[in-house]
Amino acid sequence: MNICVTGGAGFIGSHLVDRLIALGHTVLVIDNLTTGVEAFVNPKAIFKKMDIRDKELINVFHDFQPVYVFHEAAQTMVNSSMDDPANDCDVNLMGLINVLEACRHSGVKKIITPSSAAVYGNADSLPLTEDIHGEPSSFYGLTKLTMEGYLTVYEQAFNLPYICFRYSNVYGPRQGDGGEGGVISIFARLASEGKAFTVFGDGEQTRDFIYVDDVVQANIDAMNHESITGIYNVSTNTATSVNELIHHFSKLNGKEIDTVYAQERLGDIKHSRLSNIKAQKDLNFVATMNLAEGLTNTYQYFLDEQGAQ
Ligand SMILES: NC(=O)c1ccc[n+]([C@@H]2O[C@H](COP(=O)([O-])OP(=O)(O)OC[C@H]3O[C@@H](n4cnc5c(N)ncnc54)[C@H](O)[C@@H]3O)[C@@H](O)[C@H]2O)c1
Repeated sequence: MNICVTGGAGFIGSHLVDRLIALGHTVLVIDNLTTGVEAFVNPKAIFKKMDIRDKELINVFHDFQPVYVFHEAAQTMVNSSMDDPANDCDVNLMGLINVLEACRHSGVKKIITPSSAAVYGNADSLPLTEDIHGEPSSFYGLTKLTMEGYLTVYEQAFNLPYICFRYSNVYGPRQGDGGEGGVISIFARLASEGKAFTVFGDGEQTRDFIYVDDVVQANIDAMNHESITGIYNVSTNTATSVNELIHHFSKLNGKEIDTVYAQERLGDIKHSRLSNIKAQKDLNFVATMNLAEGLTNTYQYFLDEQGAQ
């Protein structure tokens, strides 16, 4: 089947492309390489270096005729969204609209795309469920929330089915330092370089970390459940503190890692954990990777990177 993955040179997108290729699909990757890496793109995929806002996208879709579109390309950094809200809006909303227009004019069967846990803002009743209408505390969260509205209207008005995933904090090999969920990739890199960790706050803040292969599986499940549409959390519904991560990395490193505790950052959310019951019920999705193994894989990736330099 012909499938397009935007952002397929990025962290999550490149793993998704690998899986789709392994399943025998013909994959077109659209990525402008702002944060993506060309070497991450599976050599069996067709790679087109292109901005998702480019009006030519519609012709590319006409020629390729994708059956499914996985739209992973985005401005993914909360801080950048606060420094430059116009760019965040341009990439995450104008870019989305351009992709949606290309989808509807080329007869795409379904678009599958991530929103984020950032849409929940500081909602404090955990676990967070999809029916909570959060109040995002960043422009990134706001564009993701607005994105969900566009998908709903495109489905209602133009009959373009969608699944929109609120990913929790995704981690794994190939993750960059800048985007969401970066604490594990930052720690894995520092540990592989034998450097100290810096923690903002007391380290007791918790997040719901999910391994990238599980996120890929959720995307495959969304494609396989053709008639299911809507918004779904993709998470483990498990809270892990930053101090627990440090403990894991110390074990992997074979010695205590020096850690500096700095002032808590303004606006940081203390706890985040997402319910995964809806995805389990409708998509049969269950995250299977345990944290210790996922961290080992991630740490090993950064060690290998270190060795290759
Ligand atoms: N990593 C997480 O924990 C997490 C959590 C929630 C949601 N998400 C979402 O998942 C998606 C993938 O995130 P990621 O962590 O893999 O980030 P990433 O930065 O590794 O990947 C994003 C990709 O999009 C590409 N891109 C950016 N702007 C583009 C543009 N204008 N035109 C074409 N390509 C463009 C980048 O080059 C990159 O390859 C994003 O939509 C992100 O918001 C990620």
